[in-house]
Amino acid sequence: MKILVTGGLGFIGSHTVVELQNAGYDVVIIDDLSNASESVLDGIQKITGTKPDFEKIDLRDRDAVSAFFKKYSDISGAIHFAASKAVGESVNKPLLYYENNLSSLIYLLQELTKKDAANFIFSSSCTVYGQADELPITEKAPVKPAESPYGNTKQIGEEIIRDTAKIYDNFNAIALRYFNPIGAHESCEIGELPLGVPQNLVPFITQTAAGLRQELSVFGDDYPTSDGTCVRDYIHVVDLAKAHVMALTRLVEDKNETNYETFNLGTGTGSSVLEVIHTFEEVSGVDLSYKIVDRREGDVVAAYADTVKANEVLGWKSQLTLAEALKSAWNWEKKVRGIN
Ligand code: UD1
Repeated sequence: MKILVTGGLGFIGSHTVVELQNAGYDVVIIDDLSNASESVLDGIQKITGTKPDFEKIDLRDRDAVSAFFKKYSDISGAIHFAASKAVGESVNKPLLYYENNLSSLIYLLQELTKKDAANFIFSSSCTVYGQADELPITEKAPVKPAESPYGNTKQIGEEIIRDTAKIYDNFNAIALRYFNPIGAHESCEIGELPLGVPQNLVPFITQTAAGLRQELSVFGDDYPTSDGTCVRDYIHVVDLAKAHVMALTRLVEDKNETNYETFNLGTGTGSSVLEVIHTFEEVSGVDLSYKIVDRREGDVVAAYADTVKANEVLGWKSQLTLAEALKSAWNWEKKVRGIN
């Protein structure tokens, strides 16, 4: 069965391609290489033994998307990762974010809904919940007004898919709301490669440990949490990748209850920034240089998933620990930087 993975050379996309291939799916990747390198294909091949098909396409190019679907007429589903994802940048370039994240989605759906049957998995985010009133966060928690254009593209994206699924019986979709994906494949053949200064906590930690950054800033220690730092649900990217395969297979096997479903993907456990730092220090043996600075604008106090729906309905549960995820992120960083 042939599956399109957009953004398949990126962080979560590449790990998902590996798990799809391991599960027997035939994968074709679309990526515009704006935030990924073609060499990721070699990393995937080293792990699975199979190099996926690859087309360099900018999904904002509607004609190119149409031509792609004519060439690969046997595609029966898509997992859509391709999107811009820097929260701060989205505030400064809202139109770029709306154009990139939404027009690509619309063009894909226009093609998929022409098929007799099509399955679609969407990369969404726990950012849709904002600061939830209750923790852990269930899928029933209300979607809060988005804090950034990036977050808004995820909310609007979900609405576009929901409305599409309502009207097209041949189209089934699942939106997966990720908590905080971290880590790398145990082979160290693929991992996260942020461009420029990392905005997310774990790549900043590993780059500081590797000597690329002088010091890590902890954004605030006066939050109402156990140690005053923000709490998040850090999920190993390999666990997350496996959830995509299970979601797709759920649609392929017609096991979905409605033709648009949402699932939270997290571990169910919240960890504070200081807990992440100390766990990293333990697994890496590196003393991290860090200091407490002011809060970062837009950060929620705490977010972690209620995993009951994912466990019981999707049949998926995260397996790997925070320590394992941090260790894998460190091993990957060391490999990329040539550190022994
Ligand atoms: C961020 C995005 C979120 C997006 C997700 C994708 C924001 C406000 N949110 O989530 O919309 O879906 O990335 O991965 O950007 N921290 C530090 N020092 C740092 C970096 C982070 O203390 O140098 C803290 C943050 O304050 C936060 C935690 O670490 O408490 C995690 O931050 P980050 O990795 O950026 O993820 P989120 O903000 O949760």
